[in-house]
Amino acid sequence: MFKEYTPNNCHSYRFSIAPMMDCTDRHFRVLMRQISQKALLYTEMVVAQSLHHTKHRDRLLDFDFIEHPIALQIGGDDPDLLAEAASLAEDWGYDEVNLNLGCPSPRVQSGNFGACLMSQPKKIACCIESMRKATNLPITVKHRIGIDNLDTLELLIDFVDQLSLAGATRFAVHARKAWLKGLNPKENRTIPPLQYERVAALKASRPGLIVELNGGLQNPNECLKALTTFDGVMVGRAVYEHPMRWIQIDELIFGDTPKEIKASKIIKGILPYAEKHLTKGGRLWDICKHTLQLVEGINGARNWRRELSISAQKKKADLKILENAARQLENAGH
Ligand SMILES: Cc1cc2nc3c(=O)[nH]c(=O)nc-3n(C[C@H](O)[C@H](O)[C@H](O)COP(=O)(O)O)c2cc1C
Repeated sequence: MFKEYTPNNCHSYRFSIAPMMDCTDRHFRVLMRQISQKALLYTEMVVAQSLHHTKHRDRLLDFDFIEHPIALQIGGDDPDLLAEAASLAEDWGYDEVNLNLGCPSPRVQSGNFGACLMSQPKKIACCIESMRKATNLPITVKHRIGIDNLDTLELLIDFVDQLSLAGATRFAVHARKAWLKGLNPKENRTIPPLQYERVAALKASRPGLIVELNGGLQNPNECLKALTTFDGVMVGRAVYEHPMRWIQIDELIFGDTPKEIKASKIIKGILPYAEKHLTKGGRLWDICKHTLQLVEGINGARNWRRELSISAQKKKADLKILENAARQLENAGH
């Protein structure tokens, strides 16, 4: 069963930040690196077919060196395209390739990938084998506990068995089923009840498999508790919406020495990255939109967020705006 962690066996997947479209872009990931140097970061989902057709692969794949360890999440159902994507992930320097088998959105379903593939384990096994042959990177999967009425423990175990045999090395399990019809993606992240006990039963039946728990984890204490059962925890919305809640993660989960992390320090830490982004013609707002949540529950938070939103969205917004926002926080002791 689960081994207590020591610095030697403490893998980055002990704590990971979930892939989230429109949230976990490279700017947010660089920001999160000021908070945790150890957590495993996931990209937003990149569709294998888009990667094949685009003339601008760099736009979909580029990342900053400080983002390591980082996993590229891919969506798709074509073994050849997925193999190509996995091979590109290795060329680009990613640490891992993750296949999305959990997203129930209509767009994703119409492409026959994401959660709807949970009813086709043989097809996914074929995709994983094909990816495995194309790269030496670990191939991992992220999935639900079931879809529609295919939601028994037996089916879940059979599903992971087939994928494991094909070469998947880790299973990030969103502890909810997904309804493919009738619920939109947001509802599919809130309405089906969380069933941690189902994921625990999976881990108990297959103790040799590496299982990460995902869904509804709100704070580091809940994660530490989950880590007594699971090999890793993956957190999405609670990290994006409340980044400062996680400033002790490296200490609590990875056994690092404590360090003081303040919102002003985080913003100062991303200034060199922001400068590079602006030099390349990027907009300040691309980065600033992710910094707003750094300030909550303190005096003047709302004003600080409003001022930054207004000024950073202006066309010619420059680095001084972010420097000034950091200075205001620093002067207020944050
Ligand atoms: C805005 C948003 C976008 C998401 N995009 C993805 C995605 O691209 N790939 C994926 O596998 N899951 C995606 N998810 C699901 C999350 O990775 C995660 O499984 C889910 O939010 C449950 O975890 P949480 O309760 O910690 O947020 C997304 C979730 C949100 C809120």
